[in-house]
Amino acid sequence: MHLCFAFSTPAATTAAMMPVAAVMPDDTPMFDPNLLHELDWSQNTATFSPAISPLDPGDGLVMRPLCTADLNRGFFKVLGQLTAAGVVSPEQFIKTFEHMKRSGDYYVTVVEDTNLGQIVATATLVIEHKFTHSCAKRGRVEDVVVSDECRGKQLGKLLMSTLTLLSKRLNCYKITLECLPKNVAFYKKFGYSVSEENYMCQKFFN
Ligand SMILES: CC(C)(COP(=O)(O)OP(=O)(O)OC[C@H]1O[C@@H](n2cnc3c(N)ncnc32)[C@H](O)[C@@H]1OP(=O)(O)O)[C@@H](O)C(=O)NCCC(=O)NCCS
Repeated sequence: MHLCFAFSTPAATTAAMMPVAAVMPDDTPMFDPNLLHELDWSQNTATFSPAISPLDPGDGLVMRPLCTADLNRGFFKVLGQLTAAGVVSPEQFIKTFEHMKRSGDYYVTVVEDTNLGQIVATATLVIEHKFTHSCAKRGRVEDVVVSDECRGKQLGKLLMSTLTLLSKRLNCYKITLECLPKNVAFYKKFGYSVSEENYMCQKFFN
């Protein structure tokens, strides 16, 4: 299933380029945390009860960009509840993190339970640069997952609302995602609709 959300007012802008990441696991964020905290939350389309926001996700919770130290905070355990996360060495993880950070186009966002020091939810916004639509940018949402013990606490909604608003803030002309039919109702809460286009896929390995 292919879901799409087109914005009505595309405009040119530049994605913030971040400095080169450290080589040892640390708390350097993948992107500027202010991008999450300075969003215009009044534009969010989902309902939250009780009210939560990127700045205030709930007691003992923090929403922020991924950092390499999250490798030791169960980041892969959460990802493994979505799909095969595979066996990844710290070196591989840091190399991929640095690549994403340098590009300035990856917004891997996490929610941490600071009492437990554990990542409990994550979702990613990727910005694709295009020549079409006057060299526009398109957002793609990937890897949305909330750890099973934290589901139903609005964290999935919080991440999706945040990344959708962030894509608009970064001047994407539209944002898309792929999901199973059973999850369509979830994504409709954030303004996505099922596209006419088919999602086609060729898998080379798992
Ligand atoms: C889908 C997922 C991210 C939702 O996160 P969550 O934190 O449990 O959901 P929230 O508490 O934020 O949202 C709850 C709301 O969404 C709805 N909802 C939750 N999961 C849903 C689903 N799969 N389909 C439709 N609606 C769903 C609830 O009914 C509730 O609606 P309400 O706000 O109107 O009462 C989570 O269940 C998950 O990680 N699933 C496994 C991984 C997965 O399938 N990811 C999506 C890949 S495309």
